[in-house]
Amino acid sequence: MKYNSQKVAYWFFALSMLLLTLQIIYGFIMAFAHMGYDGLHEIIAFNTARAVHTNLLVVWILSGFMGAAYYIIPEEAEHELVNVKLAYIQLITLALVGVVAIIGYHFNYWEGRKFLEIPRPLDFLVVINVLTFLGIIVATLYKGKKRTTTSLVLTMGLVFAALLYLPGMIWFDNQTMDSFFRWWVVHLWVEGVWELIMGGILAFLLIKITGVDREVIEKWLYVIVGLTFISGILGTGHHYYYIGVGKVWLIVGGIFSALEPLAFLAMALFAVSMYRKGEKKHPNKIALSWTLGTAITSFVGAGLLGLAHTLPQVNMYTHGTLVTAMHGHLAFWGAYGMIVFAIISYTLPNLTGRKLYDSTSGLLAFWLSNIGMLGMTVAFGVAGVAQVYLERKMGMDFGDVQKEIEVHFVVLAVCATMFATGIGYYIYEFIKYGTPSKEALQTKN
Ligand code: HEM
Ligand code: HEM
Ligand SMILES: [Fe+2]
Repeated sequence: MKYNSQKVAYWFFALSMLLLTLQIIYGFIMAFAHMGYDGLHEIIAFNTARAVHTNLLVVWILSGFMGAAYYIIPEEAEHELVNVKLAYIQLITLALVGVVAIIGYHFNYWEGRKFLEIPRPLDFLVVINVLTFLGIIVATLYKGKKRTTTSLVLTMGLVFAALLYLPGMIWFDNQTMDSFFRWWVVHLWVEGVWELIMGGILAFLLIKITGVDREVIEKWLYVIVGLTFISGILGTGHHYYYIGVGKVWLIVGGIFSALEPLAFLAMALFAVSMYRKGEKKHPNKIALSWTLGTAITSFVGAGLLGLAHTLPQVNMYTHGTLVTAMHGHLAFWGAYGMIVFAIISYTLPNLTGRKLYDSTSGLLAFWLSNIGMLGMTVAFGVAGVAQVYLERKMGMDFGDVQKEIEVHFVVLAVCATMFATGIGYYIYEFIKYGTPSKEALQTKN
């Protein structure tokens, strides 16, 4: 760690781990409900658990991104964060808004819009919070000595992500209009600007870990940004097939979204080729595994499994089924979960000054979580295909089909236990490192 203010990152990562733990608990509640054991129904109904599960996901990832930015920007710009106190206030208010929202969901204080359930009054608090965060990041970049491509791509991703939150706040009393703009947030986040954030963090990690020249690595970033925008913007059309808008989206959405995997492929090729070119001398091997793992798993989960249901002819059958959950899990985990884990694994030794990266629990965390998540993906996929066949081909009733596919959720729960054990090991490591120390300022990264 070079700058004292980078320590802020640690606390955002800690919040991230806490929220992930809660997300997993709600995941299990749903897995059991799918198996037919819905004992908590009166207190936590399935729809509540689902909203809590997905919202916690978004917040732990965002908290991870914010931590990443608070670490990366001072280092890249060669300047302390402009206001550390404000950064801590931003952390605490982020956690508070999150807690109020989650508690509110249990008392039906929410909007029934998938992923954007947060009620409007709280939305405004989110906006203020994110503006504070961006203010600190942009001011630090502005005052800093250097503005690298990596830091600019990361900041651009964060600023666009904030701007794209706004279309989700417009009020419509028309379902189609509401849905149309809801996707500007959900789709253009994960298949647009978050990819820039991911690309920025990936580039930073590769520069640090592989030792390859910055110029070479940053050239790739242009390719990734270009491919993302060319395919992702009009690719939004893959959510417009059957929501009540014009038929033109069948063609536009089909063609452009089918091109989206190229950006993920570029990222995977980028990471692997930089690794092969590099010196392979950096001792933090586990951070390297998470970094390469991100690039590869996101290509499979987002690129290939996205492609699997993106054409209108296929999506007509699979829309809104467990096939979507299959893709949603591996894509979110592979791209955004793993990149957060990668930056945490890289920064913890630097923030705390304790180089504990060569450990068995670190390896167990990596393999158990990833194999567990792959297993979960397969379980969702098999359940999804069975659901599509019985419900959409055979015409069976939704509820009857859910009974038929209960057995697949036993497999899901077994794999989810493996995944959760891996996460347990990761959090154990996180705690073992301890909190940031002054001595860390002197240690070499
Ligand atoms: C990291 C990137 C990605 C993430 C995190 C992600 C995640 C998700 C999630 C959570 C959903 C469910 C959304 C909802 O119903 O509210 C979804 C839907 C969908 N995704 Fe992705 N996705 C990613 C990339 C892609 C890519 C690259 C493609 C296409 C090649 C794709 C194709 C689809 C399609 C077609 C749907 C709609 C499914 C339906 O009709 O039910 N996704 N994605
Ligand atoms: C122990 C771990 C987990 C279990 C048991 C679990 C289980 C579930 C279940 C049962 C659903 C609802 C599916 C339905 O609508 O019927 C769900 C939704 C979802 N989960 Fe998980 N989950 C876990 C961890 C995760 C993680 C780590 C992520 C992301 C990194 C994640 C992302 C999602 C997403 C995006 C959805 C919404 C999918 C969609 O829109 O179709 N889950 N999860
Ligand atoms: Fe999409």
